[in-house]
Amino acid sequence: MIAAPMLSGRVLAIGPALAPLAAGPLFGVVLELAGVERLSGLAPGSVDLVLIDADGADPEGLAAGIAALAAQPSPPPTLMVGAHLPAALVRALMRLPRADVLEAPFQPDQLTVAAQALLTAPAPAAHLPHAAHRSRCWAVSGAAGGVGATTLAVELASLLAARSVRERSVCLVDLNLADGAAAAYLGAKAALPLGEIGPGAERIDAGLVAAFASPVTKRLDLLACPRDPVAFDHAPREVVLRLLDLACEAYDFVIVDVPRHRRAWTLDVLAGADEVLVVSELTVPALLAARALSDEIEAALPAGAKPRIVLNRLASRMFGPAPSMAEAERALQRKADAGLSSDWEAAAASVNLGGPISQHRPKSKIVRDVTALADRLLAEDAQRAAKAAAHAVRAA
Ligand SMILES: Nc1ncnc2c1ncn2[C@@H]1O[C@H](COP(=O)(O)OP(=O)(O)O)[C@@H](O)[C@H]1O
Ligand SMILES: [Mg+2]
Repeated sequence: MIAAPMLSGRVLAIGPALAPLAAGPLFGVVLELAGVERLSGLAPGSVDLVLIDADGADPEGLAAGIAALAAQPSPPPTLMVGAHLPAALVRALMRLPRADVLEAPFQPDQLTVAAQALLTAPAPAAHLPHAAHRSRCWAVSGAAGGVGATTLAVELASLLAARSVRERSVCLVDLNLADGAAAAYLGAKAALPLGEIGPGAERIDAGLVAAFASPVTKRLDLLACPRDPVAFDHAPREVVLRLLDLACEAYDFVIVDVPRHRRAWTLDVLAGADEVLVVSELTVPALLAARALSDEIEAALPAGAKPRIVLNRLASRMFGPAPSMAEAERALQRKADAGLSSDWEAAAASVNLGGPISQHRPKSKIVRDVTALADRLLAEDAQRAAKAAAHAVRAA
């Protein structure tokens, strides 16, 4: 008989009945025992393996927890054990790129072998999305020129990439096709020759997207066009939409910098996004423009979906007669969803040195505020996924 290997790494065990395994097949691992609620707050990359006792948790809560795992950019491998494995739970588990089930009762060696296989399974390769790959697409648009839309898009993309464990997992797409600034802000190359692709959307495939995406870091790619004053005329709606579809298939997160002037594809892009962020600043013209743009977008989005308003360049002391937050919300006729502090020095360092603010001025309040915004969007996304999964288990 071949001896089962000794396991190592950080293992999160869900269910008190798993505790005795610490002295047996899990001897040697860094073991954390927790309840099912732990799955929802798990930081990406914080454990090497999740072990779940399906018999010890209520199926709805467990399905919600597994859905929260699946919502992570790069979920940890997960092994579920139990004598009664409801089909809906196994289905939820199958949404994870690396998962296995072991029917109880089992021998200690069987658990070790299954766990070891998952621990050594390669993370899904970049650009080879697993079957249930779910990407998130967040669109950012400025209500007026210069309010900070590109800045927010660049910071969000950089933050998500920094948290991701998978290579080429985040893509920033600059749809300011004629004169986008994202490449310059990141100190990267704009390499997508949309004008040369012409009208044949069917010619664009995953390989072409991968070839024209400029690597900014290992985990962050940029899809942006070189400066071309007539680029908008050369990029038909089908081409832009196909490009975005392919980006969403290849990456875990796609952040789109959407120009504020309406194009033939604008509403399709916004309607297809999971979040639409409208950036404004605290001046009366920008607030009025943000209100008008949000109304237009809301009318075009699927029922119930709302753009979120981000007020940029908030200063603790405004110079001159700037509107207060209450006045701003009155002008907007809606609540602002987030605010970003003003920090000219950090913003200038970033654009002049090339690279996100989070790289050059990690302590800037802008970074803190963008992080809070991203955390909130991610938490709400995980909640929605958990609700949908619990609903599916109830319906099964
Ligand atoms: N919170 C902020 N504090 C200070 N400067 C900012 C802030 N956000 C953006 N900026 C600066 O404002 C200018 C315009 O920002 P940008 O993101 O290009 O706006 P937009 O894309 O909406 O036209 C840039 O120089 C940028 O560095
Ligand atoms: Mg811009």
